[in-house]
Amino acid sequence: MSGVLIVGATSAIAEAVARRFAARGAAFYLTGRNETRLGAIAADLRVRGASAVGSEVFDCNRHELHAPMLERAAAALGGLDVVLIAHGTLPDQKACEASVERTLAEIATNALSVVAVPTLKTNRMETAGAGTLAVISSVAGDRGRASNYVYGSAKALVSTFLSGLRQRLYTRGVRVVTIKPGFVSTPMTRDFRKGFLWASPAAVARGIVAAIDRGTPVAYVPGFWRYIMLVVRLVPERLFRRLRM
Ligand SMILES: NC(=O)c1ccc[n+]([C@@H]2O[C@H](COP(=O)([O-])OP(=O)(O)OC[C@H]3O[C@@H](n4cnc5c(N)ncnc54)[C@H](OP(=O)(O)O)[C@@H]3O)[C@@H](O)[C@H]2O)c1
Repeated sequence: MSGVLIVGATSAIAEAVARRFAARGAAFYLTGRNETRLGAIAADLRVRGASAVGSEVFDCNRHELHAPMLERAAAALGGLDVVLIAHGTLPDQKACEASVERTLAEIATNALSVVAVPTLKTNRMETAGAGTLAVISSVAGDRGRASNYVYGSAKALVSTFLSGLRQRLYTRGVRVVTIKPGFVSTPMTRDFRKGFLWASPAAVARGIVAAIDRGTPVAYVPGFWRYIMLVVRLVPERLFRRLRM
């Protein structure tokens, strides 16, 4: 493995994934908004076996910075085997319902900035005929629900974009992995009451690394979410619209 770029590397899920790659001696380029957290994660990964760790402060909504960031990452690592895109926010659904600006800003962060990186990066991977792009979408993108449809629709855009990208690149040696976590205990879900469906970042990271290793097209993590979402998708719209979830 020559190099792993992680966009949104301060995410709890991304950090748990990076720890697993570090144990294999991977080299990293980490990007995130919080310089102090990036530094702490980089130091931790070195102790855990990473062969090299570079980092860069990077706000995904600054689209003009995407291409130079990718250049620096590839130059620092001598090539990128794996690109993991992990950043995201969990919008306040009620606040979005009251504000077009807030709704569009959340969709910009959770969808537009997410598809911008693959648009740039996979063209390079296609030319090289190698590489894995893994993006954290969500089960929330499988069907819009009243309680979080701004987030869900952004994730649906990401999942559909990746589906098309995967088909386009199928014969080009580039693997596109869509990761759909269920409920994970992270800072993003700090205020939620937790129950038996919840997983830890470490448990989810195991599934994500396995999906990246195998090039699994769509990985639900944990795997049982595939069946939960199958049922959710099968509920007829006439009934679904009456439910509160
Ligand atoms: N937790 C869950 O239940 C769950 C379920 C399904 C999918 N997911 C997805 O999993 C991914 C990781 O989330 P998480 O659960 O690990 O939550 P998290 O620990 O809160 O991580 C979210 C990360 O996104 C970063 N971020 C937000 N906006 C950004 C921007 N404009 N530019 C750069 N970085 C930005 C945050 O950075 P700052 O620290 O600078 O804010 C933070 O590091 C997200 O895509 C999320 O939607 C999570």
